[in-house]
Amino acid sequence: MPAEIVQWVTEIDPRLIIDGTFGGGGHTRCLLDAIDPKSSNGLNIIALDRDPAVSEREESAGQDPRIHLFLGSYEAAPKALAAMEREKADAMILDLGLSSDQLADRERGFSFNDPDSPLDLRFDPENGQSAAHWLLTHREEDIANTIYAYGEERLSRRIAREIVARRRREATIKTVGDLVSVCRKCVPRSKNHDIHPATRTFQALRIAVNDELGILERTIAAAPNWIAPGGRVAVISFHSLEDRIIKNAFRNDDRWNILTKKPLRPTASEVQENPRSRSAKLRIAERAK
Ligand SMILES: C[S@@+](CC[C@H](N)C(=O)[O-])C[C@H]1O[C@@H](n2cnc3c(N)ncnc32)[C@H](O)[C@@H]1O
Repeated sequence: MPAEIVQWVTEIDPRLIIDGTFGGGGHTRCLLDAIDPKSSNGLNIIALDRDPAVSEREESAGQDPRIHLFLGSYEAAPKALAAMEREKADAMILDLGLSSDQLADRERGFSFNDPDSPLDLRFDPENGQSAAHWLLTHREEDIANTIYAYGEERLSRRIAREIVARRRREATIKTVGDLVSVCRKCVPRSKNHDIHPATRTFQALRIAVNDELGILERTIAAAPNWIAPGGRVAVISFHSLEDRIIKNAFRNDDRWNILTKKPLRPTASEVQENPRSRSAKLRIAERAK
């Protein structure tokens, strides 16, 4: 939903924007083109991404001097501001989830179409625990609870039992194909075959190994401290757990004025062009003056 992001952010004539989920840089480039096409408005973008592949790609592409790229979580936005000797940003945008580059990377484990891919699922493969390791080191009950809470998967207990049974037989889950076969065994195909039996389980593990909801909750709660009065935060989320966190964080802190009473949704033509955007919701709030 880049057009909506550009519209809402441009309105406040920002000078410093944080793109907390830089990815392929699509949103950043739209903002630069809309606000500062001739590089004369003094716009700077702090771009953050946890994925080291993003910084490698940007460095080799030769960077626009207005983009200040930091490797790390958007939770570390205040550190990036400090590194630029600034206290507050005028806007922050977050486009949650994974990028198409990550989905296409066969080493990351994000796609069901790569059964031999290692089951990693980390945005930053250099830190933390891979999903395969996570499944090896957690108890059956924790695995079931996580798949239930973060994947909203009714059959979480059955799946956890099968994972632990395979662990005992020393047939541990190492690859995407291993976990898909567990899910196929435990989850009946959905009525109109529109959802893959492993979708909810993969979502849950990805959220867990990346602490996605914790980071989102802590960041939005702290953001009024480093977003300038009158500044705006725009967040695109892809499932109800994320959307609930954003909605409540904006509602429960009177330093935010909510600008989107209902979340904005992609247009039909946007969904046709990019089917992965069909569940996207955009919420925007303004830091009270
Ligand atoms: C949907 S993509 C963003 C696409 C981007 N808006 C564009 O236009 O190309 C999400 C990106 O956020 C990154 N990401 C996920 N969690 C993050 C976090 N806590 N901090 C920083 N980046 C994160 C992922 O690595 C991924 O590159």
